[in-house]
Amino acid sequence: MYDVKKIREQFPMLNGKIMQGHPLVYLDNASTTLKPQCVIDAINNYLCNETANSHRGDYDLLFNMDMKVLETRKVVAKLVNSEPNEVVFTSGDTMSLNLIAMSYGFQFLKKDDEIIVSEAEHASNLLPWYEISHLTGAVIKFIPLDKEGRLTVENLQKVITKKTKIVSIAQVSNVLGNVVDVKSFAKVAHENGAVLVVDGAQSVPHMPIDFKDSDIDFLTFSSHKMCGPTGVGCLVGKYELLKQMWPYFVGGGMNVSFNKNIEMVPYEPPMRFEAGTLNLEGICGFKAAVEFLLEIGIENIHKHDQELCDYAISKLEKCDDIVIYNKNSRNGIIAFNKKGVFAQDEATLLNSKGIAIRSGQHCAKILNDFLGTPATCRMSTYLYTTKEDIDAFVDALINGGDILDAYFN
Ligand SMILES: Cc1ncc(COP(=O)(O)O)c(C=O)c1O
Repeated sequence: MYDVKKIREQFPMLNGKIMQGHPLVYLDNASTTLKPQCVIDAINNYLCNETANSHRGDYDLLFNMDMKVLETRKVVAKLVNSEPNEVVFTSGDTMSLNLIAMSYGFQFLKKDDEIIVSEAEHASNLLPWYEISHLTGAVIKFIPLDKEGRLTVENLQKVITKKTKIVSIAQVSNVLGNVVDVKSFAKVAHENGAVLVVDGAQSVPHMPIDFKDSDIDFLTFSSHKMCGPTGVGCLVGKYELLKQMWPYFVGGGMNVSFNKNIEMVPYEPPMRFEAGTLNLEGICGFKAAVEFLLEIGIENIHKHDQELCDYAISKLEKCDDIVIYNKNSRNGIIAFNKKGVFAQDEATLLNSKGIAIRSGQHCAKILNDFLGTPATCRMSTYLYTTKEDIDAFVDALINGGDILDAYFN
């Protein structure tokens, strides 16, 4: 039985936090998530009791930290069903995608090769590929979106060719919440000799992902969108691909040796991609966050998001002046506008009631042409969101009063 009340008790930000005179209603989880006490404690414990660097422990504290890093790889591997040595720690999803582009992309792409992306992508899954296109002469192609902004296998088949080397898409759009069938995408990519990069920033925290069974080549995500700290995330890559990749970031901790002949021998993956001191307090917090999610059960979190989404949509559909851009996506993200109201004004009005949602282009700046609007409001749920949160949100949306009140009260 999913006990949201009990879950909420573990989040300091949900116990007594007042915003603009109202209890906080946090509906910006696609942006970042709140942190449970176990994550805060894990970070605190590193800072108070466990501080040491990692990499080959000559003394107990350092050895213990090496073990902690290894345990974190194991727990992340369990979450997505990969091998621990396929888990590379990065500063987050954006760095992971840049790392794939600059390492795999720069090494293996040449002029006129193709990189397939979509108009629905976040900047972090477009701009690294733009850079690679400029550096190598590879061509960027876009998968056409269907009427609801979805990415379908049929449309991938329309654009993919034998020149395609990389297909890089978000498994869940951060604006429309649509889910891509990544297993079928991987099959089509592989049939054409391409690799599939899955931006899992919005999927890994919310739904079960099977890296091995889906045959994904690279999967990326951030800890802070799954109850963990900022500044840490992952690139999960098939070991045989990671092994072929020359590291883009170089420095201490990633090499076996180097000499005066300008030669360097990198470690085996994953360490060859982890130059410099890792974000160790972040990794401790990340481990606690993943364990927390596994304890609740990712499938349960997914169902909870879906139920809340259905509940919110059923309420919003009754309001004539609300435009919903993704009625059918059911993944804890709702993109909407109030007719005649600029998105940022609506978000400001909701803020005046203690309700946190997002407005704008959500870093997916090409998608607005498709949506036919310069900006949208986005509300997004997570494992601690309640129906009462949705009620407060819908009530403020409908009966919130004049927008000007939000600015001048
Ligand atoms: C789909 C998607 N990709 C990439 C990112 C970038 O994540 P981060 O800022 O944690 O690197 C986000 C963040 O919102 C996202 O939603």
